[in-house]
Amino acid sequence: MEAKKWHREYLERYQRLKEAGLPFFPNTVFKDTLVAFVIFALLAYLAWTKGAVLEEPADPTDNTYNPRPEWYFLFLFQALKLFPGHLEAVAAVVLPGMIVLGFILVPFLDRGPRRHPLTRPLGLGLGVVGLGVYCFLTWKGYSSPLTNPIVEKDPVILAGRRLYRDLKCSYCHKVSGKGGTAGPELDKVAGEETEAWLISHFKNPQQMSPGSTMPVLNLLDDEITSLVAYMKSFGVGSYTPEAPKLFAENCSACHMINKQGGDSGPDLSLIGSARDKNFLKKYVEDPSQMNPSSAMPGFQGQLTDTQIDDIARYLATLGQ
Ligand code: HEC
Ligand code: HEC
Repeated sequence: MEAKKWHREYLERYQRLKEAGLPFFPNTVFKDTLVAFVIFALLAYLAWTKGAVLEEPADPTDNTYNPRPEWYFLFLFQALKLFPGHLEAVAAVVLPGMIVLGFILVPFLDRGPRRHPLTRPLGLGLGVVGLGVYCFLTWKGYSSPLTNPIVEKDPVILAGRRLYRDLKCSYCHKVSGKGGTAGPELDKVAGEETEAWLISHFKNPQQMSPGSTMPVLNLLDDEITSLVAYMKSFGVGSYTPEAPKLFAENCSACHMINKQGGDSGPDLSLIGSARDKNFLKKYVEDPSQMNPSSAMPGFQGQLTDTQIDDIARYLATLGQ
């Protein structure tokens, strides 16, 4: 019985070493503790001097976020994708649990005394396969496409978004459908205002919107700049499919868009890069109030307010 012989030899060797050498406690334990402490101190030093890279604070209104784990968990992230939804718990809890349990059980399952890796094909094989799977899944997870395109975020807009949260604007306003109802839904309307209007409105809401219940917030100039950038980032609200039709019926006799239409008025293909929605709306309502020598007819009364608004939104997107 060779196994028995090994075992006996092993016990004898262990006995000899024990008699000759140092005891596990405290000597080896001390060495281990020392190394652990040095590594801990190094980590603490790095954390202190370099710090960890943190992302922006979590933001429930941001729907462009790409949730991704750190690289050492990418394999798990990728493994989850191999399981259908209702088996998620198996991939997230049961499998990793079994692997950890396997590690714990190693000393009980494999009691062979030989230490050279080549004499332990099972352990070596499992280890290599496991490492291979880990590397493969990590690489797959790393190279898998992102759910959202990476948008380069403007720090001024981010600062505005943070202020919006810190100043509790959502108490009265909605963004992405979340927030109070005392004020308008900002992502629908605020992007259409000019910067000058927004700045004056932030300084004194009542002056720009008489009777407004929005409080005067006594903001610093750079806070206003950030908030305005955030408001402008909402862009112009969307127009309905009606708008291009209204334009074709009422305006294309004189105006061109993308080479379609008449030329007694200016080509409007890029008008959105020069004029904002409010200017456009006022101009279409009554050109003479913006341009006393205007040769263009006003459309107030001829088109409804909603229709003119719709056309203005449409034009504001052209050339943007
Ligand atoms: C007490 C409620 C209240 C709070 C708090 C509040 N607002 Fe308002 N806000 C309003 C009301 C009501 C209006 C509509 C009347 C007006 O234009 O002032 C408004 C209008 C606005 C407008 C103009 C929208 C448009 O295009 O017509 C902007 C922009 C705005 N708020 C941004 C903010 C921001 C940013 C904050 C946080 C710093 C904030 N508001 C805090 C009530 C509030
Ligand atoms: C009878 C011809 C005519 C019609 C119809 C007409 N426009 Fe005009 N529009 C003009 C002329 C001419 C100008 C040049 C400036 C002026 O005279 O007001 C102009 C200027 C404009 C401008 C200003 C461009 C700028 O930045 O100064 C806008 C915007 C505009 N038109 C939009 C419209 C829209 C929208 C309609 C339809 C609802 C429309 N126009 C219908 C003739 C017309």
